[in-house]
Amino acid sequence: MPTLHWIGKDKVINHHMNVPFRVLEHSYGYDNGTRLNEETGSGNKIIHGDNLEALKSLLLEYEGKIKCIYIDPPYNTGNESWVYNDNVNDPKIKKWLKQVVGKEGEDLSRHDKWLCMMYPRLKLLHKLLDANGVVFISIDDNEFPNLKLVMDEIMGASNFICNIIWQKNYSPKNSAKHFSVDQDYILVYAKNAEIWRPNLMSRDKEQLSRYKNPDNDPRGVWKAGDLSARNYYSLGTYQIKTPSGRVIEGPPKGNYWRYSEDKFWGLHNDKRIWWGKEGNGVPAIKRFLSEVQSGIVPQTLWLYSDVGHTQDAKKEFNNILHDVKLKFDTPKPSTLIDRILEIATDKNSVVLDSFAGSGTTAHSVLSLNKIDGGNRKFIIVEMEDYSETITAERLKRVINGYANKEGTGGSFDYYELGQPMFLEDGNLNELVGIERIRKYVYYTETNTPLTSIEHTDSEYFLNKHNDTAYYFFYEQDEITTLDKHFLSAMKTRAEQFVIYADNCLLTKAHMSKHNIIFKKIPRDITRF
Ligand SMILES: C[S@@+](CC[C@H](N)C(=O)[O-])C[C@H]1O[C@@H](n2cnc3c(N)ncnc32)[C@H](O)[C@@H]1O
Repeated sequence: MPTLHWIGKDKVINHHMNVPFRVLEHSYGYDNGTRLNEETGSGNKIIHGDNLEALKSLLLEYEGKIKCIYIDPPYNTGNESWVYNDNVNDPKIKKWLKQVVGKEGEDLSRHDKWLCMMYPRLKLLHKLLDANGVVFISIDDNEFPNLKLVMDEIMGASNFICNIIWQKNYSPKNSAKHFSVDQDYILVYAKNAEIWRPNLMSRDKEQLSRYKNPDNDPRGVWKAGDLSARNYYSLGTYQIKTPSGRVIEGPPKGNYWRYSEDKFWGLHNDKRIWWGKEGNGVPAIKRFLSEVQSGIVPQTLWLYSDVGHTQDAKKEFNNILHDVKLKFDTPKPSTLIDRILEIATDKNSVVLDSFAGSGTTAHSVLSLNKIDGGNRKFIIVEMEDYSETITAERLKRVINGYANKEGTGGSFDYYELGQPMFLEDGNLNELVGIERIRKYVYYTETNTPLTSIEHTDSEYFLNKHNDTAYYFFYEQDEITTLDKHFLSAMKTRAEQFVIYADNCLLTKAHMSKHNIIFKKIPRDITRF
């Protein structure tokens, strides 16, 4: 398989593993119009910060759990005058490149920089994706060929699903130097193309109106299908006599009947052949709505008449945020994201967008939940400071209602990236706070969140999960030792005990007899 090389690739190929795990610092909750200090527990999250670190932080709770990822990264058009910098020359990304790629980074071309920026982020997105999940990436011609090759490398070429063409413009741009470009691409990859399947799309009114029932067939409405085609070579060109006695010599020249003669008359006996109102027309097959799939397989050409165009997106943005001074130039229409969610989510899916911009993905999640009573969750990440003034503000208005649109209702929590869990020397960072450390350790062990429960055990007890009791014996300025004295204070009964401490004085025989597993702090704490 061809792979892509660029300057700096060797520095970023494993970089996602060295990104520090930072805790998410809760800023505020928002619940149906009310700002709260405490978390809403809704599972909807806006994270302000660089998505590389945010994605790493999400691994703890969401590794392998995201059903649908949509991202709309900078297209790398070279345009630097937008509200966000599209040329990978944003000071934050420049600083990051310098740290990760080093001096070599200064000589990188704009494409090298873009690839260095994207590669570790795509690696983390891949880890977050559910085994039956799918990722959609908006892109244009500037980076499409590079993105395709890098996605083949990270996701596996066999997991490529398709490349959607979105007709983004409704009229030509006469200022174009050569051609006026009408389309963007949306690259689609599944975590596993063998198991992922798109939802069928519901038929619209126009499609449904093609089904009728002129003969009052008890099987319900149907539409007439052609009985002849060019490619049914072996099935015959036989003569057909209509019920009124007219003889049809055969299908149109160069065509064949779709069914063998026997099969054809079998269909006729089952009243599945339509001969026209007078009973002497060219026969057609009746395709009953009740017998076709309950929806339509999605296609790869998305016209603006179906999913909106760029001007629609700007209008939508201005309609919601008419009084916000900062304008956002590159929103996507929510109707475009609605289509993605319709294809790729069920009512409980977690949807992630790590290049959130004006928050269109979250807007679509809220709207779709309102329409179908779903409980989809969104997690969106935006690096720029407008994550509050544009992104969160938009969602507040969507929740409460704007212009003459009824509110969707709903809640979210807003987070900043906080302290790293580990210091550079590998020790736990106490600034994170002991409760967060306990939660982290428990989650790494059990893959379930640590919730406060009533118990009579010692303060070091975390919880019991699958008949294993977990303890985290940690003191800020003291060395802790797992010994018989510690064991005697433990109250919880379980089949097995996992105990973290600085040291252990128990013998191997004793531990094995009582099913105790000792884990050394910080050495044995799993790192993300
Ligand atoms: C093309 S815009 C996304 C527009 C979005 N789909 C919408 O409908 O509004 C890309 C966004 O990604 C953000 N971004 C770029 N690099 C980022 C990073 N490393 N971490 C988080 N956000 C980033 C930019 O600030 C910008 O807002």
